[in-house]
Amino acid sequence: MSSAHTYLPVAPNHKLSVLIPRADIDVRILELGKQIRTDYSDRPLYLVGILKGACVFLGDLIRAIPGDVRFDFMGISSYGKGKMSSGEVKVTKDLDMSLEGVDVLIVEDIVDTGVTLTYLAHVLQQRRPRSIQIAALLDQPSRRMRPVQVKYVGFTIPDQFVVGFGLDYAEAYRNLPEICIVEES
Ligand code: IMP
Ligand code: MG
Repeated sequence: MSSAHTYLPVAPNHKLSVLIPRADIDVRILELGKQIRTDYSDRPLYLVGILKGACVFLGDLIRAIPGDVRFDFMGISSYGKGKMSSGEVKVTKDLDMSLEGVDVLIVEDIVDTGVTLTYLAHVLQQRRPRSIQIAALLDQPSRRMRPVQVKYVGFTIPDQFVVGFGLDYAEAYRNLPEICIVEES
């Protein structure tokens, strides 16, 4: 847990510390990209990024997967403005592309309770893709309330609230280039 950087908190009572340094994230995403291409052979791959958190991970992941890769975004909201889940999931932006007959990889920032992905996998399955798998940068299995099969996991992390690399706290911190823990005093 060390970093060359210190980050400016958006509130004076926030304390940020680096959990996963940038270099580790870069290495891991390259590994995932290679693994994904190996698993799908030369088939075209359709990545569905979940807004907004997954956009940074997706941006790096698409460049780590060689060959025919396409992507779109879907907006899902399950969290309120802070750290607490609102408990309800809804689609706020749908896809522009059809998924019928194609290999779909859902790209998520973090799998926490699994509520969001359980809902989303169900919604996308009805569009009759050839296959659906999930890639998540982070996994917090200790917090799971619904069983979710996450085929590609960047890092498994303990039950802590994290920000950076796309993940937010009340919309802040998505721009941090590393995964950080945010603590409030
Ligand atoms: P789930 O439905 O509980 O699995 O919620 C997953 C979503 O909640 C993720 O896509 C994130 O947007 C958000 N989330 C869960 N844990 C964290 C966290 O530690 N930091 C930031 N966002 C989180
Ligand atoms: Mg999210």
